[in-house]
Amino acid sequence: MADQAVAGRPAPIDFDPFHPAHRADPYPVYRRLRERAPVFRTPRGHWLVSGYHDCQAVFRDPRFGHGTGAALRENTFRRPVTGRSLPFILLDPPEHTRLRSLVSRAFTPRRIERLAPRIQEIVDEMVDAMLEAGAADVIGDFGYPLPATVISEMLGVPAADREAVKELSHLVARGVDPDFNHTPEELRERNEAFAAFDEYFHELLAQRRQQPGDDLLSDLVAVRDNDERLSENELLTTCILLYVAGHETTMDLIGNGTLALLRNPAEHERWRADPGLATTAVEELLRYDPPTQMSRRTALADVRLGDHEIAAGDQVVLLRGAANRDPAAFADPERLDLGRADNRHISFDGGIHFCLGAALARLEGRIALGTLVRRAARIELDSDELTYRSNLIIRGLTALPVRLTA
Ligand code: HEM
Repeated sequence: MADQAVAGRPAPIDFDPFHPAHRADPYPVYRRLRERAPVFRTPRGHWLVSGYHDCQAVFRDPRFGHGTGAALRENTFRRPVTGRSLPFILLDPPEHTRLRSLVSRAFTPRRIERLAPRIQEIVDEMVDAMLEAGAADVIGDFGYPLPATVISEMLGVPAADREAVKELSHLVARGVDPDFNHTPEELRERNEAFAAFDEYFHELLAQRRQQPGDDLLSDLVAVRDNDERLSENELLTTCILLYVAGHETTMDLIGNGTLALLRNPAEHERWRADPGLATTAVEELLRYDPPTQMSRRTALADVRLGDHEIAAGDQVVLLRGAANRDPAAFADPERLDLGRADNRHISFDGGIHFCLGAALARLEGRIALGTLVRRAARIELDSDELTYRSNLIIRGLTALPVRLTA
């Protein structure tokens, strides 16, 4: 679809999220959408919402959710995998509330803050190794293994198993994309990855039943067995959700965040000169290039949004990357400003599905990026060509090669 104005008519919107240029830089298209059609219906019939206040309105409106029964079966974005419980990220109240509350205590900011010394220790080891080598892939050597180690330790996934479940985790994370973005072969691989993950956690949970440890899996087994507030299927789905959500996105905070710093050397230098910027810096990096680009909801009733009538059953896609750069909510939104105040980005969503792991992701981001900025006197990109993974929802690089010195 060409993007040229025809006399008297506004230019059509050329939204092709699969185009390589869009993957490399989706922000010009987001801007056009926001300016010309903030609530836009795609040829597939999905509504794209790109304005900040409209996205917030959808997050907070119980008339938008995931739906059950026919609404779920007719969902062209993602059909449930037969025979599996849905993870609570895809459920509405009251099931969502029940399942989320069983694990939410483990993720309170106070409990997460206690992990700081251990996270610092892991980060120091990884940064030492990268500095010693003088070259690194920020994704493969840092972004992936750090959050994978942290969530594995929290859950109680043995270190020896992490390599084996890495590929499964990638397949499940890619499977978050809409079904129409997958070949039948990829859908089969995704479903097999779910089955293999089930089997893996089933065995691990059986071990925890015999020998409970000081970890989240042991806590969940106790909830399942003693209170019966959780079915075996729900238990398995929750384990996979926590494991995958716990690191695939944080990896991209570290990758996209490092790249944004390399492309904005004055801001990089500003952080180096003022380590106290870590908190606002991480919020700004999350706003500027969010690891998850969109959320989906189904209209559970007829709802008016902007100038449009959304019919019950219609699917709505909230474009986080667009909303985070909406001038109606952020001053000078295209600029990376590591000291930005009052930064209410929606990179962790809003409403009832607000990211359960936000405190953990923020802590890991502050320690990982803060340590890298402080300890590497010089970091430069070691590649002319960067490629993004083909995921639609989770946005991140396949690799980020750098040269660095202490
Ligand atoms: C930078 C890293 C992260 C980002 C950008 C991120 C982003 C998000 C977003 C946008 C959602 C809402 C999705 C939706 O409603 O469609 C979400 C939900 C969730 N996140 Fe995160 N996340 C991150 C890290 C983590 C970590 C470390 C965990 C730890 C386990 C985690 C666990 C979850 C869970 C369990 C949910 C579902 C919440 C619910 O449905 O109530 N996330 N995350």
